[in-house]
Amino acid sequence: MFVDETAKSPMPINSMPGCFRYPLANLVDEVRKTLELGIKAVLLFGVPSYKDEMGSSAFAENGIVQRAVRVLKREFSDDLVVMTDVCMCQYTTHGHCGIVKDGRVDNDSTLEVLKKIAISHAQAGADFVAPSSMMDGQVRAIREALDDAGFKDVGIMAYSAKFASCFYGPFREAADSRPRFGDRKSYQMGYGRQLEALREMELDVMEGADIIMVKPALAYLDIICIAKSKFDVPIAAYNVSGEYSMVKAAAQLGWIDERSAVVEILTAIKRAGADLIITYHAREAVSWLSQL
Ligand code: PBG
Repeated sequence: MFVDETAKSPMPINSMPGCFRYPLANLVDEVRKTLELGIKAVLLFGVPSYKDEMGSSAFAENGIVQRAVRVLKREFSDDLVVMTDVCMCQYTTHGHCGIVKDGRVDNDSTLEVLKKIAISHAQAGADFVAPSSMMDGQVRAIREALDDAGFKDVGIMAYSAKFASCFYGPFREAADSRPRFGDRKSYQMGYGRQLEALREMELDVMEGADIIMVKPALAYLDIICIAKSKFDVPIAAYNVSGEYSMVKAAAQLGWIDERSAVVEILTAIKRAGADLIITYHAREAVSWLSQL
């Protein structure tokens, strides 16, 4: 779910029909509806009112995600698992997922910022933090920082095998997080690479990830399948924005039956080995799946 610091009412996301950027004031009601359907976890993305070079609003005590987590945990306590995306791209003026030095994203100085973001989310009450910037060593850095700050029980869902994908396009419109120069290929993986994905996942498990993620999902079922056979931590699959929007667009044109397509896609992701599926179709899918 997207929570937008400046929105006054739910803002429809053009490229993701049926999805909204919610003001904080609407979030509790939206999450309550979701919980009532039986969906017990939510992954939060912030859309801040202020950006700078360092992404400082990402770790502000009163940042939009920090406020959202506090409100949700106060309302739902342990009935709801709150997961937060830990990244910088929505919060930086340049739109990259890290600190930019001399026109390049600098891995190690970014780790310092990611630690601050993760701690600020944990302080607000997040159950899981989900580092998504694909910096090397981010899981270890965050694990150590959380432990040192007394948050041993806060879990890490690592975006481990995250590919440089065109399927993130609609999300970047939704979250206003597109890179203003260059691309993300120096930190996200080339989509032709299977071995590198395995290495990234192995490293994240060794560094202390509680859940590892493959992203996107549909074009990466092989990666999910191998991950499931190799690692004994839960495997999450992120059915990303572009995968959602393709189905929505074809359905709106009458070219595909949405319900059948969604159920078939989610079944395939599950069949490949996903233990958790993150999807924008979640609410609709719950009722469709329960009627099977
Ligand atoms: C932040 C982030 C992105 C997504 C999730 N976290 C965007 C990106 O890497 O550009 C994409 C999710 C989606 O497309 O649904 N780095």
